[in-house]
Amino acid sequence: MQALDALKNRISHGKLQAPGPSPEQRAEIEAAALRAADHGNLRPWRYLYISGEGLQALGELYLKAALADKPELDEQQKERFLKMPLRAPCLYVAIANITEHPKVPREEQLMAAAASVQNMITAAFALGVGAYWRSGDMAFHQVVKDGLGLQATEEIVGFVYMGTPQLPNRSAPELQVPDFFQNWPN
Ligand SMILES: Cc1cc2nc3c(=O)[nH]c(=O)nc-3n(C[C@H](O)[C@H](O)[C@H](O)COP(=O)(O)O)c2cc1C
Repeated sequence: MQALDALKNRISHGKLQAPGPSPEQRAEIEAAALRAADHGNLRPWRYLYISGEGLQALGELYLKAALADKPELDEQQKERFLKMPLRAPCLYVAIANITEHPKVPREEQLMAAAASVQNMITAAFALGVGAYWRSGDMAFHQVVKDGLGLQATEEIVGFVYMGTPQLPNRSAPELQVPDFFQNWPN
């Protein structure tokens, strides 16, 4: 797929099934992540790749986090947390590593990490790999951060689910460029 076609037409796939991306596809997606715009070339990102039994372990970590907030969860609620990461055959935990820098504030480092994730999901789309960037309460929960080994300087910017799309690509929403771009001064 041409780069511009991927950039203009990328969509997320919520319904994902096995197989996940091949080693060759993963190599392309991961290389794309590293070419995000990055003030100061700080590379303020790192990723954890989780598949197979790792997804079950992540579900158990989610449940531990949820129980820390609310010990009286019923069985159905517990099952929901355990199953949450099983939406796809694999996922990447996208992590921003924020360092003190005289010219690059925290916000810019988060933006660079987010740009890196955007590169990944666009690369995945170009390769025919389905992807879905999610966050949610678990992305911000200290129990989850600790369980995944994050340092105090690190934040989760997303869980990027990947796999084979269950549905064909839908059309990207038709947004009107002039609604978002104006000349200044008019
Ligand atoms: C930082 C970030 C976090 C997101 N978290 C969620 C989420 O937790 N749940 C969700 O349904 N969509 C989430 N999204 C949005 C989806 O990834 C997706 O972009 C959205 O559903 C629009 O679909 P599209 O990418 O096909 O246009 C998030 C997007 C971003 C940028």
